[in-house]
Amino acid sequence: MALAETPQRVFQRGTWPGSIAFRRGWARAEARPWNDTFDDAVLRVIRGGTPFIAACTTRLAEVGAPSVLSTPLAASAVKPWELAGFKEHLALALMRLSLDSPIPAPEHLVARDEQFDIDLMLQVDKAAFPEFWRFDRAALVESTQATGRSSVFVIRDGDLGLAGFAVLGYGHAISYLQRLAVHPDWQGKGMGRSLVRAVARSASRAGSRAMLLNTQHDNEAAIGLYEALGFVKLPESLSVLKAG
Ligand SMILES: CC(C)(COP(=O)(O)OP(=O)(O)OC[C@H]1O[C@@H](n2cnc3c(N)ncnc32)[C@H](O)[C@@H]1OP(=O)(O)O)[C@@H](O)C(=O)NCCC(=O)NCCS
Repeated sequence: MALAETPQRVFQRGTWPGSIAFRRGWARAEARPWNDTFDDAVLRVIRGGTPFIAACTTRLAEVGAPSVLSTPLAASAVKPWELAGFKEHLALALMRLSLDSPIPAPEHLVARDEQFDIDLMLQVDKAAFPEFWRFDRAALVESTQATGRSSVFVIRDGDLGLAGFAVLGYGHAISYLQRLAVHPDWQGKGMGRSLVRAVARSASRAGSRAMLLNTQHDNEAAIGLYEALGFVKLPESLSVLKAG
């Protein structure tokens, strides 16, 4: 696809409502619709400051995005976005599990799935999450690629289906629980606990000392599960900011 130059001199590859890559000098960002249902753009800035964020945001408005959301940001990363006109839209709880103590074994058969089936994962994700928080294909694939190395863990439902899955992104000292979902037909049976235990054991075996995740402050089931497993809420939250 040809590179197009905008009046703000932001170069764009791709067309809305698909994925768009932006660049200007050394600055880089990517944007795509929030998910299949909400066509607000989510802008992920890889490198770049306020003028670049503002230029990408203007460009996204020009091509028809109703508003632009940031990815979840730590407090230290918020300033350039605020200066570009963004305001806090959502706060996400950040939770941490120390992996220094042994993690009990899962109570269910949890398999590490090297050839995971994105369609089956999407079915569970769609059934488990409310509309706004559902991942579409691009977001789910991205969750498996956000760190250099990641694994998908599944509990199968018969031979073909999935009862639940978790995505673990491996880091050095810290690994990240990128996604967790149990199909509503199977919730309340300990499968979420088994998936998190399997993931935590794998992170620990890989050498991580802690596991981090973020979740909505009002997600009682998730926070209840994580707290029951020893996660603690960190004092800082992550923020999703919005412009437009
Ligand atoms: C969060 C989720 C994965 C939990 O899975 P689950 O299999 O239903 O949870 P489990 O049966 O393993 O529950 C384990 C523990 O978590 C806690 N818990 C589970 N559901 C809870 C709820 N609705 N309220 C409060 N605590 C809850 C309890 O401590 C429970 O232990 P107990 O059954 O001995 O009381 C599931 O509800 C889900 O997929 N939700 C939608 C997607 C989601 O929010 N994912 C996490 C995003 S970060």
